[in-house]
Amino acid sequence: MIIGIPERFEDRSFDTYSPKNDIAAGIVAKSKQYAADLAPNINKGVGLLFIGDPGCGKTHLAVATMKALDERYPMTEQMFGNITEIINRVKRSFNSAGYDANDKQIIERMSTVRMLCIDDLGKEYSTKWTDSVFYEVANRRYNDLLRTMFTTNLSVEKLKERYDPAIISRMFEMSILLDFKGVKDYRVYG
Ligand SMILES: Nc1ncnc2c1ncn2[C@@H]1O[C@H](COP(=O)(O)OP(=O)(O)O)[C@@H](O)[C@H]1O
Ligand SMILES: [Mg+2]
Repeated sequence: MIIGIPERFEDRSFDTYSPKNDIAAGIVAKSKQYAADLAPNINKGVGLLFIGDPGCGKTHLAVATMKALDERYPMTEQMFGNITEIINRVKRSFNSAGYDANDKQIIERMSTVRMLCIDDLGKEYSTKWTDSVFYEVANRRYNDLLRTMFTTNLSVEKLKERYDPAIISRMFEMSILLDFKGVKDYRVYG
């Protein structure tokens, strides 16, 4: 079961992604392999980190990987969330006027769901508070060996500049890095 896939990506899968070069083909192969290898005790706590410019297919392939996992493990709860939406929901949950039971539990759910995909990391307006929310979720998932996928437009260097080294170090330890370097924007070039 997958929660939170945006409507635009509902029909995206490995079958609907046609890689335009070897780098993209390699990323598809690794994502498929990851989904195929996954068993409760293999790759425990290991996720994927998709890095690349806008439009190269990060969200598409993250969704495709979740769907491939879902076909094999339909009972496993997976959650997809865009970072800005996640942060806004968490913010609302601290504001009594906007109280919503689902919002209230969001940090808890993100910290405990079996697979979490955080889409567009780095797009959030970052403050000490947003960083601490992200740190809490990432650290709990790291400690509990839960799998996490991230997508980001930020390069490895920019990620290091932007986030606390303690977060980056955990993120890299818990992820297989898939870098779309050289893959062009599909929205522009097709
Ligand atoms: N190689 C591809 N084959 C088919 N569709 C693609 C491909 N690359 C990207 N797309 C489509 O182009 C759009 C942009 O891709 P997306 O995954 O949103 O990029 P990113 O998350 O890297 O910004 C989406 O609608 C996606 O399904
Ligand atoms: Mg995206």
